[in-house]
Amino acid sequence: MGAPAEILVHRDATVLARTGAARLVVSLADAQAARGSASIVLTGGGIGGATLRAVADSPAIDAVDWSRVDVWWGDERFVPRDDPDRNEGQARAALLDHVDVDEARVFPMGWLGGPDSSPKDAADRYAALLADRATPNSATPVPEFDVLLLGLGPDGHIASLFPGAPALEEKRPVVAVHNSPKPPPTRVSLTYPAIAAAREVWVIAAGEEKADAVSQGLAAGPPQVPAAGVRGSHRTLWLLDRAAASRRPAR
Ligand code: 6PG
Repeated sequence: MGAPAEILVHRDATVLARTGAARLVVSLADAQAARGSASIVLTGGGIGGATLRAVADSPAIDAVDWSRVDVWWGDERFVPRDDPDRNEGQARAALLDHVDVDEARVFPMGWLGGPDSSPKDAADRYAALLADRATPNSATPVPEFDVLLLGLGPDGHIASLFPGAPALEEKRPVVAVHNSPKPPPTRVSLTYPAIAAAREVWVIAAGEEKADAVSQGLAAGPPQVPAAGVRGSHRTLWLLDRAAASRRPAR
């Protein structure tokens, strides 16, 4: 079932990124204090990247032992590794290149021209990486991520799970996505079962162009958009700026 959505609204995208970064630093430090290490799932997209850049600028950044953080991705574009569209490259430029991560604990999804001969092979290999580090007896063979970040598309997509896509019904933890309505068209994505394994799921959205997706994502009743289906086991946060929250349903 998962934790019900909590909504936090901030003045604008800049304050949203900075407060999301502060929250992330504290959450990772708290996870390390409680369990010795921390596990994060990164998202692509503009506000996701802005949040990582704000982490890199955070005065509290050293509260986290970055060498004991497992870094995963919620989705990735299946393009050459040096393509500027790669979420991995954007995350490295925004944060990972500026902290002392242990590369053995950084798990990029596959890329065109890499070790995987297809997006499906990349999905299968990623699923195997997740399974190797899965929480014992977990319903889905993946780790219990401490924080799983999700940007929100104007159509209500999260990760690379788009409205009406077969991937929404997928029981495997990782899938290949073709003909994505958001370019580039070929991707690899976690699915709902993998997302649901996270202790905390944070949906982060800024801008008026996301207001309808937020409204549909938070609406009561049967899920209208992919974002409506996400829950963390312990906490589900919708971190919004005022513009994205401007049409959210009354609670
Ligand atoms: C991707 C992202 C995708 C993104 C949303 C929001 O790889 O494209 O993971 O899910 O987070 O489309 O992107 P913006 O924040 O740039 O609108």
